Amino acid sequence: DAAEKGGYDHFMIKEIHEEPKTVRDTLNPRIKNDKVDIEELGMTDEEIKAISRIRIVACGSAYHTGVTAKYVFEEMARIPVEVDIASEFRYRNPILQDNELVIAVSQSGETADTKEAVRMARAMGNMTLAIVNVVGSSIAREAEKVMYTWAGPEISVATTKAYSAQLIAFYLLAMKFAEVRGLLGEDEMKSLIQDLKKLPEQIEMLLGNKERIQKFANRFVAAKDVFFIGRGIDYAISLEGSLKLKEISYIHSEAYAAGELKHGTISLIEDNTLVAAVATQDNVYAKTVSNIVECKTRGAFILAVTTIGNEDIEKVADYVMYIPQTNRYFTNSLAIIPLQLFGYYVSVGKGFDVDHPRNLAKSVTVE
Ligand code: G6P
Repeated sequence: DAAEKGGYDHFMIKEIHEEPKTVRDTLNPRIKNDKVDIEELGMTDEEIKAISRIRIVACGSAYHTGVTAKYVFEEMARIPVEVDIASEFRYRNPILQDNELVIAVSQSGETADTKEAVRMARAMGNMTLAIVNVVGSSIAREAEKVMYTWAGPEISVATTKAYSAQLIAFYLLAMKFAEVRGLLGEDEMKSLIQDLKKLPEQIEMLLGNKERIQKFANRFVAAKDVFFIGRGIDYAISLEGSLKLKEISYIHSEAYAAGELKHGTISLIEDNTLVAAVATQDNVYAKTVSNIVECKTRGAFILAVTTIGNEDIEKVADYVMYIPQTNRYFTNSLAIIPLQLFGYYVSVGKGFDVDHPRNLAKSVTVE
């Protein structure tokens, strides 16, 4: 066991350290001559142009990558996207349009609800595409087209590297679809690819700061409630940051679209309640900062996750974790690193069995 962990205390922290490689392995084979090459899917340009809507179905963290993907696809490729929790999709007699592409996301490729959603979509005559980590798994076989994430085996129940690989797969699809639909010029494509290629070393940089996050995490091992807030893509990462923390630390945690706080949740903020605010998106930055101020006024302790260059946030936040600059579409690939580390170190600080949280399974093959 110790040997398999390669010198790390837990599989989770080992797998977090594998994220730069995972991102590289999922990305590099699909970049050729400054273009996205996903010929492996066998989708024609006509098929891509004809997509009327994208429906993403998944569970857990895989669902959260779908929430990020919605923002990216809609803005970059101007294709409407619905994101569905697979167990909801399968039991509500869903309506799929003609030419609606159904994308299932799954690390294991064995999640029962996701598999059933794919089967239903196929039966309705829709094109299905699976973003899957395990080669030859049930979902990979069930879907018409497969795009593998190359994260390698993931042991820790709480997913980390597979999540990061799924994000990359979605970025590549969105870029390709945008290009085929005439919405992404050569220069813009080149610059996006350059930013993607920088992600692995930027993740390394963030990992180099882990002791700082550990110190911070140790202050919050006794927290009762934590709230994660953000807008747009920052909201999508808040969902995952919150899940990572709660599933392994057993601290109650919720993610909120920052603008929704005042519709209920803000009444739960008390002195020293931890609010983790993600603010990387320029178009909503000022809005999120004003939500931070609202929480602070009610006594919250504010952890902000933002981009280098936004140092003015220190005026309103109690503690700041900075991520390097990247294209606004890709910030979640960086913001997730401190959030995963935070969840990990809180769990370690509480002395829990990080890799095997109670009541959870790595792969949910029964309902
Ligand atoms: C379980 C795992 C999660 C995962 C979810 C979906 O709950 O603990 O980490 O996100 O299942 O699994 P899948 O294999 O379909 O991605």
